[in-house]
Amino acid sequence: MYVPYKMRYSLSTHVRKRSSPPTRATMVRTSGPDTMLLLTLAAVASGPVAAYSWPDPKIDLLESILYQQNGYRQYGLAFGVSPCTNMANMQETGRDDSAEWFRTAYHDMATADVQTGIGGIDASIGFETDRPENKGKAFNETLSFILAFQSARSSMADVIALGGLFSVGSCSNGEVIIPFRGGRIDALEAGPTGVPQPEEDLDTHTAAFARQGFNVSEMIGLVACGHSIGGVHGENFPEIVDVVDDINNQASRQDFDETFDNFDNSVAKQFVANTTQNPLAFGHNETTRSDFRIFNADGGELIRKMAESQQFFWDTCTTLLERMINTVPKGVKLTDVIEPIPVRPNNLFITVNPNGTQTISGEVRILEDGVTSANRQVLIHLKSRDGKNISSNPVVATTQNGLQVVGYYKNLPSFTSYTFTTTVPTTVGVSAFDVQLKDGNTDITNTNGGGGFPFQDALITQAESTCVGLEFFSTKSNNTLNISVAVRDDMEFDTVQLWVPKPVNMIGTFSTRFEPTSTELSKTESLNGTGYSIYSGSYWFTVDSVGPMKTFDLFASGPNGVVYNNFTRWADFNVCQ
Ligand code: HEM
Ligand SMILES: *[C@@H]1O[C@H](CO)[C@@H](O)[C@H](O)[C@H]1NC(C)=O
Ligand SMILES: *[C@@H]1O[C@H](CO)[C@@H](O)[C@H](O)[C@H]1NC(C)=O
Ligand SMILES: *[C@@H]1O[C@H](CO)[C@@H](O)[C@H](O)[C@H]1NC(C)=O
Ligand SMILES: *[C@@H]1O[C@H](CO)[C@@H](O)[C@H](O)[C@H]1NC(C)=O
Ligand SMILES: *[C@@H]1O[C@H](CO)[C@@H](O)[C@H](O)[C@H]1NC(C)=O
Ligand SMILES: *[C@@H]1O[C@H](CO)[C@@H](O)[C@H](O)[C@H]1NC(C)=O
Ligand SMILES: *[C@@H]1O[C@H](CO)[C@@H](O)[C@H](O)[C@H]1NC(C)=O
Ligand SMILES: *[C@@H]1O[C@H](CO)[C@@H](O)[C@H](O)[C@H]1NC(C)=O
Ligand SMILES: *[C@@H]1O[C@H](CO)[C@@H](O)[C@H](O)[C@H]1NC(C)=O
Ligand SMILES: *[C@@H]1O[C@H](CO)[C@@H](O)[C@H](O)[C@H]1NC(C)=O
Repeated sequence: MYVPYKMRYSLSTHVRKRSSPPTRATMVRTSGPDTMLLLTLAAVASGPVAAYSWPDPKIDLLESILYQQNGYRQYGLAFGVSPCTNMANMQETGRDDSAEWFRTAYHDMATADVQTGIGGIDASIGFETDRPENKGKAFNETLSFILAFQSARSSMADVIALGGLFSVGSCSNGEVIIPFRGGRIDALEAGPTGVPQPEEDLDTHTAAFARQGFNVSEMIGLVACGHSIGGVHGENFPEIVDVVDDINNQASRQDFDETFDNFDNSVAKQFVANTTQNPLAFGHNETTRSDFRIFNADGGELIRKMAESQQFFWDTCTTLLERMINTVPKGVKLTDVIEPIPVRPNNLFITVNPNGTQTISGEVRILEDGVTSANRQVLIHLKSRDGKNISSNPVVATTQNGLQVVGYYKNLPSFTSYTFTTTVPTTVGVSAFDVQLKDGNTDITNTNGGGGFPFQDALITQAESTCVGLEFFSTKSNNTLNISVAVRDDMEFDTVQLWVPKPVNMIGTFSTRFEPTSTELSKTESLNGTGYSIYSGSYWFTVDSVGPMKTFDLFASGPNGVVYNNFTRWADFNVCQ
């Protein structure tokens, strides 16, 4: 049985509330590096947890973007809508990213036809911004912000869904936590039309929502949830609300309710009380009073219930919005709900030293589930290349201030990272490790389901001699990777390759697609006395602006096997001098 994360960790939420959150001033808008890692710690008191085994290419990056929000190795997507009133575009007042990202998610989904399985959240909205049904700058500005989180392992469609999820999470301060599944696939062209427009009649709207998979009650609920934040802009809909001359409201927004920046039930309360604020319910233009027609479609029953109970409103929205973001084209198979990974490695690196040793370094990120004492010990048990315990003395991993990461709103997990480094002879090598957690009376060794966390040493990027370059010309950037890889001689590889998912711009959208490209690396040096050789090469591509998240994969094959070392972020390396 699936136990929602929010319920399982309510304890830790309360613990966390007492400590003061990091101040906004210390937040950095960059995303920290991440490799491709994760695992499970089974059987916590709270019941069955799906057995993860690290790494999982479908889960790991999305888990980071979802939960590593604020602090160490944070991903800045949630930051874009935290607080709810945040607006990246400083040029214009009267707009909020949260409302715009949320509306973007709905408009991407709104053309879905669940009978034929066409459409849903697939990033096709990017190709559809010039349509009358998608008025305004919101869609392109949303895509150009969230583009930084698109990657070979996070489709634009997944990022659009996350954007909507973060918006309601932030604007409700964690009261609405939508379970997230990954695996959406990006469309490569526009889809059909069909986003509801305010001047259409109730029958048209009822039919449009039925096509999207929502009956009349669900239509009422979904529209009430959608119109809990933001408003109607005179800039986009002058026939609905007046254009005003106000330096604090340059887009001429008239808010849906008196708490446009709070995902709450006041839109329903105000409607039931007949107040005049919501332009789509009581605006001067009767033709465009679509909220009025929709909220009364069942005689006003559901909107009254939503007005009466804040909790009922939130629960209704959680259920309906989860369905909204999980509406995907036929054939797309979403992952299980992505839960916080209790113990997961990050940023594992190995450097081969000239004196016949290798320096092994990495981090383990531990979920704070509320049971940690001040003297927790984290011990790394390395296994040699041939799978034996390296020594009876485990490597001690340590933490310090600044290695914590928390959520921007309530009901999210927090984590602490522990870093380790050690040196072993290259003749011994490494193949995996276990993580022992000693804390008070508990002493748990996490073996990643039995075999340990894999840590191959046959094909390893040498961080000190790898660098990345970024040059701008006109509206484009030139992105260079100069890479140096240590390759174990005993593998006798026939080929060592660098694979880069090259971002390619598409006409008519800010979203990109990825084209797999390979480059043969060549042997440039023997590291005498270590059993390793250096292979190197370089690769460059150009893309509009800075483009999406850049990563690379390594691949080598030979008589003794095939080795992959996938999804390393360019951002983990120094800038070329
Ligand atoms: C019949 C259905 C709907 C109609 C006719 C409709 C119409 C509109 C209109 C005209 C605006 C003003 C946009 C602007 O001026 O920038 C708006 C804003 C908005 N809509 Fe809807 N909408 C509908 C359903 C939904 C649903 C189901 C959701 C989400 C679940 C949603 C989310 C939003 C949000 C968040 C805004 C505020 C945007 C902002 O302030 O930038 N809408 N809607
Ligand atoms: C819509 O479907 C829900 C179940 O999802 C059901 O409870 C509700 O009665 C239905 N409403 C209408 C008007 O059919
Ligand atoms: C009311 O809205 C409709 C539909 O957008 C438009 O055709 C009409 O001109 C508007 N009326 C006024 C008075 O703005
Ligand atoms: C709101 O208006 C409707 C229709 O005019 C009326 O039936 C209802 O009593 C009014 N509600 C309040 C709270 O004034
Ligand atoms: C070998 O070199 C590494 C890196 O410079 C150093 O950390 C290590 O102590 C050296 N080991 C020996 C046995 O000299
Ligand atoms: C190897 O280390 C693990 C802990 O990581 C321990 O459980 C196991 O018993 C050790 N095996 C041997 C043969 O010492
Ligand atoms: C991009 O940079 C690489 C080297 O860093 C260079 O060889 C290449 O010509 C550049 N491409 C363009 C289009 O400027
Ligand atoms: C959004 O951006 C795309 C791609 O640059 C462009 O084709 C489209 O016209 C833009 N839409 C709007 C409304 O500016
Ligand atoms: C490594 O050995 C090769 C031949 O065995 C020799 O040509 C080369 O100079 C040596 N390199 C270093 C750095 O010692
Ligand atoms: C690793 O990357 C290569 C090349 O991009 C790809 O063909 C392979 O399927 C990937 N393997 C895994 C396990 O992700
Ligand atoms: C990157 O590699 C290329 C070719 O190997 C070389 O010409 C260039 O100087 C390198 N750039 C930097 C900044 O290291």
